[in-house]
Amino acid sequence: MTKPPFILAIAGGGSTYTPGIVKSLMVRLADFPLAEIRLYDIDGERQDIIAPVVEKVIRDHSQSIKLTVTTDPEVAFSHAHFVFAQMRVGQYNMREQDEKIPLRHGVVGQETCGPGGLAYGLRTILPMVELIDLVERHADNAWIVNYSNPAAIVAEGVRRLRPQARVLNICDMPVAAMRNIAAVLGVDREAVTVNYFGLNHFGWFTQVLVDGVDRLPQLREHIARFGLLTEDAAATDPQHSDPSWVKTWRNIKPLMDHFPEYLPNPYMQYYLMPNQIVEHQNPGYTRANEVMDGREKKLFAAAAEYKKTGILPDAFHVGVHGSFIVDVTRSLAFDLRQRHLVIVENRGAIANLPYDAMVEVPAYITANGPEAVTVGKIPLFYKGLIEQQLACEQLLVEATLEGSYEKALQAFTLNRTVPTMQHAKAILDDMIAANQDYWPQLAQAYKEGIAQ
Ligand code: NAD
Ligand code: G6P
Ligand code: MN
Repeated sequence: MTKPPFILAIAGGGSTYTPGIVKSLMVRLADFPLAEIRLYDIDGERQDIIAPVVEKVIRDHSQSIKLTVTTDPEVAFSHAHFVFAQMRVGQYNMREQDEKIPLRHGVVGQETCGPGGLAYGLRTILPMVELIDLVERHADNAWIVNYSNPAAIVAEGVRRLRPQARVLNICDMPVAAMRNIAAVLGVDREAVTVNYFGLNHFGWFTQVLVDGVDRLPQLREHIARFGLLTEDAAATDPQHSDPSWVKTWRNIKPLMDHFPEYLPNPYMQYYLMPNQIVEHQNPGYTRANEVMDGREKKLFAAAAEYKKTGILPDAFHVGVHGSFIVDVTRSLAFDLRQRHLVIVENRGAIANLPYDAMVEVPAYITANGPEAVTVGKIPLFYKGLIEQQLACEQLLVEATLEGSYEKALQAFTLNRTVPTMQHAKAILDDMIAANQDYWPQLAQAYKEGIAQ
């Protein structure tokens, strides 16, 4: 087993989440000792803005941990023990396009769901594989713990292209939901154990256990009144608590009013009530704009202030996002076999879904990776929804690998947020135009199709 203190690289070092993740690492140093943190990004300028903030966060806790900031993969990954990946391929400018293009056609504009998520997937699969290859070349058997979205599609792409890679794909949405669940129930998050099945950003909590008792009945009553928020909607964590997230948590109510059996992942609203979502979206100012004007601006302003005055204003989130990736990585590092919701190959865990589907279920995290719990058979309604979404994501991956316009169009058409094949085609064609630099093969296939 790898021995501490560890060398940890963060790919996507220029991410708005980097300072929060590093803070989470610092408060857990006794449990997860570090010798060095390396920030790696392909945008050195952006990373250099964030790096002094990260340095300050480290120095507040440790004088000995080395910080390396680099755009050179060899420097970043040589002998690294763990790599956190949080790349946003195309950055916020492309996220803005992902959200605004579908909205121009009256379809949900969302970072990871619907056509926006599919476009983001088409951009991200190959850079993710490139990252895996770089890590394998320079590090010795390092684990990559991946947050890079769209995680469902990234996971499927990695399964197809690099099935042996030591990559664990994770998402903070279930754990953020568990944070809210715990707040509603008035218990510690650590006291909550859940059962859950689905794909990433497409799943359901089937049981919420506290001391062995299922508290879902109590949650149902609460959600029928307030959604998945505490009664006074008090912020339980600064992440996921600005006005648009509050709206997202409130929408758990209509979802459960219709289907009270299980508690849905908040992302189900984009698939099950897309018209209502579109009605409340502003096609000229989407979540990407909110994030650029909010989280990013605040962090960059704080970095500038710190450079000028030596005082770092409070500027970044510390919460479940950072603590979850540290928890999962500790369990990998020390073979703790802790139970977490992660994305794994099904291999029979959900008995009536394909063996090779990448699913999100509880798993015990061992030094050799996740061991999924047995979920058993799931009811037909959920199975039907999941199979359609899975086919959509798998076709999207095939479209990327084959440069196939036809498969991309099939994927867009299969997505529940897209009402007709004409919508799918119009959005895909606009997406191809906006993504020329990222999808040369697909743009070529499209041109050849027109020429015929
Ligand atoms: P961001 O744009 O602030 O940061 C992403 C960084 O990745 C940028 O600095 C960018 O230059 C860099 N990057 C892009 N391509 C790269 C490549 N090929 N190699 C190395 N670096 C590259 O974005 P953010 O809002 O901080 O989010 C970061 C990522 O984390 C996104 O993918 C986001 O979707 C994801 N995320 C996932 C979860 C989850 O639940 N899985 C939760 C939060 C954020
Ligand atoms: C949740 C999801 C992530 C997603 C993020 C977007 O945390 O699990 O997958 O990237 O929300 O949040 P944002 O604040 O950038 O809109
Ligand atoms: Mn997620």
